[in-house]
Amino acid sequence: MGEIVSGTALAKKVKQGVAERVKECEAKYGRVPHLVVILVGEDPGSVSYVTGKARDCGEVGFKNTTLKYPDTVSEEELLAKIAELNSDDNVDGLLVQLPLPKHISEAKVIEAIAKEKDVDGFHPLNVAALWQKQPCLLPCTPQGIIMMLKEAGVEIEGKKAVVIGRSNIVGLPASKLLLDHNATVTMAHSRTKNLAEVTREADILVVAIGKPKFVTADMVKPGAAVMDVGVNRNPETGKLCGDVDFENVKDVASVITPVPGGLGPMTRACLMVNTLECFLRKQDK
Ligand code: GUN
Repeated sequence: MGEIVSGTALAKKVKQGVAERVKECEAKYGRVPHLVVILVGEDPGSVSYVTGKARDCGEVGFKNTTLKYPDTVSEEELLAKIAELNSDDNVDGLLVQLPLPKHISEAKVIEAIAKEKDVDGFHPLNVAALWQKQPCLLPCTPQGIIMMLKEAGVEIEGKKAVVIGRSNIVGLPASKLLLDHNATVTMAHSRTKNLAEVTREADILVVAIGKPKFVTADMVKPGAAVMDVGVNRNPETGKLCGDVDFENVKDVASVITPVPGGLGPMTRACLMVNTLECFLRKQDK
């Protein structure tokens, strides 16, 4: 049976490291990093993400403000708030939880957030910096994937990695980070022809597609490391589950991440790392 790498345990370690540095910040700069999270509407998934982010801020000793808007808020009002927070020196990190209601342009909102406060790493200038190998904030989930692989002792260099999913949030940046760690990367998606043939080649398989049990045991090379980024509800039990048929794939893989307790907590831990980074960059200016 494969090793089940706990994101909860690794996230705890990462957050302890951040918490220690926050104490130093307070002593040296007289204040702690401040993360502002904007939530629009009441989508249960988004509410749960935002609650987790606030809890983690408390754990590491950050100041956190969560601003809640009804899903009828206008794009104009949201952009005005972002502009105000951009120019507020007491705000170090700023994110707007996605997805947004259809009448609000996600592209406009992402672009409106000051690059220096873009803790998600979603701003086009941050994305461009990542793809041009310039210093940048690493997007949280892909950063978490690399940390989990390292924690499990998985060598990335020289390996074949397959990433299923091509979203801006996970698939594309995860492919780029694996490439930067000298893996040979295949970018696949739900419409990839003969997907199982492609995934069976993978030493490292990253799945971010949003479909329960999308990856079955016959799609996995024996001994592969499987990183499950899916967050779904099991249609039968109503419980949280990933994109991977965990019960069967765990017997084929050498390393596998569970859902819940895998990349979710790691994504939030990396958000804490990025917020601290934004704070420190500002002090060093
Ligand atoms: N929605 C799903 N994942 C994320 C994330 O990492 N950041 C934001 N802002 N919204 C999300």
